[in-house]
Amino acid sequence: MQLTRTGPIKISLIHGPNLNMLGVRDPDIYGKDDFATVNQKIQRHAKHIGVEVNIQHSNSEGAIIDFVQDAMSWANAIVINPGAYTHYSYAIRDAIADSRLPTIEVHLTNVHAREEFRRHSVISPVVTGQIVGFGPRSYLLALEAAKNLIEESHR
Ligand code: DQA
Repeated sequence: MQLTRTGPIKISLIHGPNLNMLGVRDPDIYGKDDFATVNQKIQRHAKHIGVEVNIQHSNSEGAIIDFVQDAMSWANAIVINPGAYTHYSYAIRDAIADSRLPTIEVHLTNVHAREEFRRHSVISPVVTGQIVGFGPRSYLLALEAAKNLIEESHR
């Protein structure tokens, strides 16, 4: 069956806890770019590759779940960095699974090369894929991955 899709690809990009502190928070680990700069890079790249991105941030688990549920009514895909919730939030995991939206899990750092507790993601089993370790570029790569996924599913 030929699926039809009209209008630009729409992506919900969700930042979890403490990511609003980028630039201030441990710059040796998370880099010098502040949150506004990272978001500008995301918006610029989205424009460059021709997708629409809506960026949201919350430090709260419930608000992140609300963002995921809201995306179900308008987004083609989710790009999410759940911050430390990655490692233990079954509630965010369930929301992503229930959304049935293609989802890319993003981390600025290579979580597999850090402390033991960061090596396990409860989110990974329900996402399409994971991009880790490229700093702010992880988000840009995730936009491209999401775009490719959506385009392929409508080919
Ligand atoms: C992070 C990795 C998490 O372990 C950490 O709690 C974060 C940021 C990352 O982007 O590298 O807040 O998700």
